[in-house]
Amino acid sequence: MTADLTVRLQNGPSPVQEICPPVFAQGGLRLFIKRDDLLHPDISGNKWRKLKYNLIEARRKGFKKLLTYGGAYSNHLAATAAAGKAFGFSTLGVVRGEKVLPLNPTLMYVEECGMELKFVSRTNFRNKNDNSIFETIKINPNGYYDVPIGGSNCLALPGCAEIVAELNSQLDVLPDYICTACGTGGTLAGIVTGMEGKGTAIGISALKGNFMKNEVAGFLKKCSEKKYSNWQVFDNYHFGGFAKFKPELIDFINSFKKDYGIPLDPIYTGKLAFALFDLAGKGFFEKGATVVMVHTGGLQGVVGFNERFGGVLKM
Ligand SMILES: Cc1ncc(COP(=O)(O)O)c(C=O)c1O
Repeated sequence: MTADLTVRLQNGPSPVQEICPPVFAQGGLRLFIKRDDLLHPDISGNKWRKLKYNLIEARRKGFKKLLTYGGAYSNHLAATAAAGKAFGFSTLGVVRGEKVLPLNPTLMYVEECGMELKFVSRTNFRNKNDNSIFETIKINPNGYYDVPIGGSNCLALPGCAEIVAELNSQLDVLPDYICTACGTGGTLAGIVTGMEGKGTAIGISALKGNFMKNEVAGFLKKCSEKKYSNWQVFDNYHFGGFAKFKPELIDFINSFKKDYGIPLDPIYTGKLAFALFDLAGKGFFEKGATVVMVHTGGLQGVVGFNERFGGVLKM
């Protein structure tokens, strides 16, 4: 059974697409987009990468049920629900905040996939790492394979490291920079391990605050025996905080779609691309460098975003 799942989880490589925005061309830079958003129709982007070895481990240990956590528009809840359906696990999702009816498109989707939902207050959600949450939602956690928020744990890192292995076989040069959006920091940490000290990994935090660097360092310390210093996090492209935005970001995402045919989401990849264009314009990347932006997906959230904000994103 585990061998079967391992084979079914051999997906990819995701395509790589070169685009030539003027701001990159002017700096003599090449920009490639690693289209992890196209890895799987329902388990897209870094979610596939982070779930892969967790699902194999869950199956190996004989678990039939997955338990995980997320906000009401969570890409991770959507991907875990879809993965459970695709690979034969039942799923329970703990959702931050009160239940609002009708359910938003993300939660409607996860329910359609068969995920059972438990809604908890923001305070209880914050304490999800202590066992009292299981009393609140009246479940016995034994018997569930626990996937942490965002799918980020040590087993997430080797899946994300495979992004780098794929790039190395797809490109004719080693990337000088591999760039990703950061939420928990697990994806960046995995990319850093995959780069094995070659080139620089760049993270753009989707959250306000200067803690992301510590989060990434924490994953690296806990999950990797080797020490790496070839990475950097930027904390100044959050547009006001997690899931916050400004008209400038929306205009950028819409232009990006029009110019390059690639949709971005407003929470992670839109902020990432905006940051990379800004950094290129400011001369951050050295002349002649090859820059890779990892498109980590997140597009499922666009429908709900447009519902809330009047269809501002042209998909
Ligand atoms: C689309 C997307 N990109 C990037 C991230 C950030 O990844 P990480 O949490 O591993 O930092 C997330 C959330 O986890 C996400 O949903």
